[in-house]
Amino acid sequence: MKLIIAGDYQEMSRIAANIIAEEIKKKPDLVLGLATGSTPLGTYRELVRMYKEGKLDFSRVITFNLDEYYGLSPDDPRSYHYYMYRNFFDHVNVRPENIHIPDGTAPDVEEESRRYDEEIKKFGGIDLQLLGIGVNGHIGFNEPGDELLTATHLTDLAPDTLTANARFFGSIDEVPRKAITVGLGTIMQAKKILLLASGPEKAAIMAELLDDDAVSTRVPASFLLLHRDVTVIMDKDAAEIYKNRAKKIDAAIQPASDF
Ligand code: F6R
Repeated sequence: MKLIIAGDYQEMSRIAANIIAEEIKKKPDLVLGLATGSTPLGTYRELVRMYKEGKLDFSRVITFNLDEYYGLSPDDPRSYHYYMYRNFFDHVNVRPENIHIPDGTAPDVEEESRRYDEEIKKFGGIDLQLLGIGVNGHIGFNEPGDELLTATHLTDLAPDTLTANARFFGSIDEVPRKAITVGLGTIMQAKKILLLASGPEKAAIMAELLDDDAVSTRVPASFLLLHRDVTVIMDKDAAEIYKNRAKKIDAAIQPASDF
């Protein structure tokens, strides 16, 4: 696992966008796994800027989003469909037919989940997966529990997730209780993973993740410790508790200036 501690959110976003851009330049038909939420907004802004400056071409890039709220239609401003178009797809040249997001309104969720996994397989799996992390250690909406599912599935959102995401809905009662998410198998099979964490509210989970050397279904992100090619980029606030536990400040941390 490669660790980069960025000075602030802006620097984290710039480094993440540079890494994504490099991968697209190496492989113009990159299969890119995308996340929503607050964390990647700055990364999307940077990628849009690079595109507008003529430095990046998304015309052959294939995208797969991690998740969608169950029951929200694509034109619902609170849906992840809406978020993705508004913050990214409307401003770059990803072809509409290359965009994939689980359909939260599919009448048969099991069928939709199977279809989604088939599509990912058809493109040979995810080349680069962008991830945020929940305060409870979830990735995608793979929530802590006794077991984690490998394939795309309908899941109940954990109470911590409902609380954290209430900010997008006005009140906790408005947050959908369920979501369709890719499973841990899809994430772990990605060839390369980029995990972003920003802000003091992520400091405790990042310290737990990076300091524990243990894998547990109670911290879904801990499975990333088993992956061969994970880059974690945190801003200073998210790294705060981890950094104070000096034992792990070692050669694994790459200077942000290298990126
Ligand atoms: C979003 C997703 C979630 C978020 C996580 C962090 O598509 O899959 O795992 O990455 O909940 O959300 P923010 O960035 O809003 O703190």
